[in-house]
Amino acid sequence: MKNDFYGRNFLTLLDYSKEEIQDLLNVAAKLKAKKKANVECRPLKGKNVVLLFEKDSTRTRCAFQVGANDLGMNVTYLGPTGSQMGKKESIKDTARVLGRMFDGIEYRGYKQETVDILGKYSGVPVWNGLTDLYHPTQILADFMTIIEKFGHLDGINFSYFGDARNNMGNSLMIGAAKMGMNFTGCAPKELWPSQELIDQCTELAIESGATIRFTEDVTEGSKNADVLYTDVWVSMGEPDEVWEKRIKQLMPYQINSKLMANAKETAIFMHCLPAFHNTRTKIGKEIYDKFGIESMEVTEEVFESNQSVVFDEAENRLHTIKAVMYVTMREPK
Ligand code: CP
Ligand code: NVA
Repeated sequence: MKNDFYGRNFLTLLDYSKEEIQDLLNVAAKLKAKKKANVECRPLKGKNVVLLFEKDSTRTRCAFQVGANDLGMNVTYLGPTGSQMGKKESIKDTARVLGRMFDGIEYRGYKQETVDILGKYSGVPVWNGLTDLYHPTQILADFMTIIEKFGHLDGINFSYFGDARNNMGNSLMIGAAKMGMNFTGCAPKELWPSQELIDQCTELAIESGATIRFTEDVTEGSKNADVLYTDVWVSMGEPDEVWEKRIKQLMPYQINSKLMANAKETAIFMHCLPAFHNTRTKIGKEIYDKFGIESMEVTEEVFESNQSVVFDEAENRLHTIKAVMYVTMREPK
C-alpha cells in the first residue's frame, strides 16, 4: 500500500475517501493478525504521543495506550485537570507546544473546533478520540467488526436507533454513506442529524451507491436490517436534566428481542459502549430508582444474546486505532 496517510490528521471520516477507509481497515486486520500470532511489530519505536482527555474513557484511552505501546511508542496522558490547556493557555498555543514535544496527539473532549485547532497548529498528526460532533475511530472498529461478521460493508442494511444526532449517529451515517451501506436512522424527528449533514451524506451516497433514510417507525426501521445499532440516550457533557425527556422520547426505540426478531435472522446487535442494559452501574441504578426502568437503549436479553458483537467492537478499537497511528506516523521510505 502506498502511504498517502503520512502526517495527516484523523478528525472526521468526511476527510477520508472510501478507498482510504478500506485501506485503514485492511491495515487494522493485518495488525490484528500479527498481534494474535504474537509477532512483534514496533515500527514507531522511540516516538512519543500525548493523549488529551477532557472527558472520561475506558476503550479509547486504553486502545491508544496499548496500541502506542505495541507499536513501540511512549505515551503521556493529560486528563481533564492538571494541564494549562484552555485555562491559562489557548488551544492554539497548546497545539504549538505539544507539537514541539510529541509526534502525535489524541484529543477527546467537547468541541470539534478544539480538535480542528490542534490539527491545524500542532504540525503533527492529531486523532479525534471523540467530540460532541464525531467519533471517527469508533466507526472504524464497528466497520471492521461488520466485515468480520459479513465479509463486506457494501450493501449492508444498517439501522441506527436512538439519538441519531449525537457523535455516533453523525459518524455512522457518514461512514455508511462513504462505504456504500444502506443507512437507516430510526429516531424521533427532533433527534435526527442536522439537515446539512444529511444532505452532505446523501450527496456522498450517490457516489458510493449507499442509501440514507430516516424514519420514526421502528418496525420499518428494523425490517430486513443486518445490523441494529444503538448508543446511550444521553451523551457525555449533556446535563442530567435531559434524562427524563430523553427516556420518554427514546423508550420506543429501545433495542429489544421484538425488534431483533423483525430484522434478518442473521442480524447482529452493535453498540459502541458503555451501555445501560441493567442496573449494575451507578447511573443505571439511579435511573431505575427514579423512573423504574431496568435497561435503556438495549435490553439485558439482547445485550447478552449470541447476536450481540459488542465486545468484538471493543477489541477492534485497539486494532483500528493502532492502524490510524501507524499509517499517519510511519515515515515513507
Ligand atoms: N466507545 C468508547 O469510545 O468508549 P470509551 O468512552 O470507554 O472510550
Ligand atoms: N454518544 C456517546 C458515545 C460514547 C462512546 C457519548 O458521547 O457519550
